[in-house]
Amino acid sequence: MTMRPALEPAELRRVFGAFPTGVTAVAALVGEVPVGLAASSFTSVSLDPPMVSVCIARTSSTWRVLRSARRLGVSVLGEHQERACRQLSGTGSRFAGLEWQPSEGGAVLLGGASAWLDCALEQEIPAGDHHIILLRVHDVDADPEVAPLVFHASRFRQLQIVAPDGARADRG
Ligand SMILES: Cc1cc2nc3c(=O)[nH]c(=O)nc-3n(C[C@H](O)[C@H](O)[C@H](O)COP(=O)(O)O)c2cc1C
Repeated sequence: MTMRPALEPAELRRVFGAFPTGVTAVAALVGEVPVGLAASSFTSVSLDPPMVSVCIARTSSTWRVLRSARRLGVSVLGEHQERACRQLSGTGSRFAGLEWQPSEGGAVLLGGASAWLDCALEQEIPAGDHHIILLRVHDVDADPEVAPLVFHASRFRQLQIVAPDGARADRG
């Protein structure tokens, strides 16, 4: 493969999007109001101390508000939460009709998600047009009955288990 000097954003998006991810909702109470956004850049970082990261666009007006919250909730969206995901990334009322609850410290956690992390901002590292947001994890929970939503090539998908013989098996 030969590397070319100018990499177009559209092509980068296409190739970066070939890597499948889950989708999270990063959210907190600001005053009495839930504020948040959908983020597929979630990654686990460290077990000891427990840390995770998300990458947030430098232009994000939501992050400008969220970053001052004492606690930040990260909810791993379930496979049925595609609409919630679109809503959480849109310009309308992001939490309208969504079931959520605040943690003691003010993290906002979505009902019906696959997993939940109650975090605090540890570090913000500038990285090009994004910031790498390092979060210290203070509490976690997961519902093994809820399969996660998958985001790949700009589309939402669902997981399937592949049997040892390569056939697609029922989920178990
Ligand atoms: C599936 C999906 C994944 C997203 N992942 C990210 C992400 O990892 N980082 C990010 O900054 N924005 C991400 N976004 C965009 C945000 O959800 C949201 O649209 C953006 O923050 C809007 O800008 P605002 O913060 O100024 O309101 C994603 C959107 C979708 C639909």
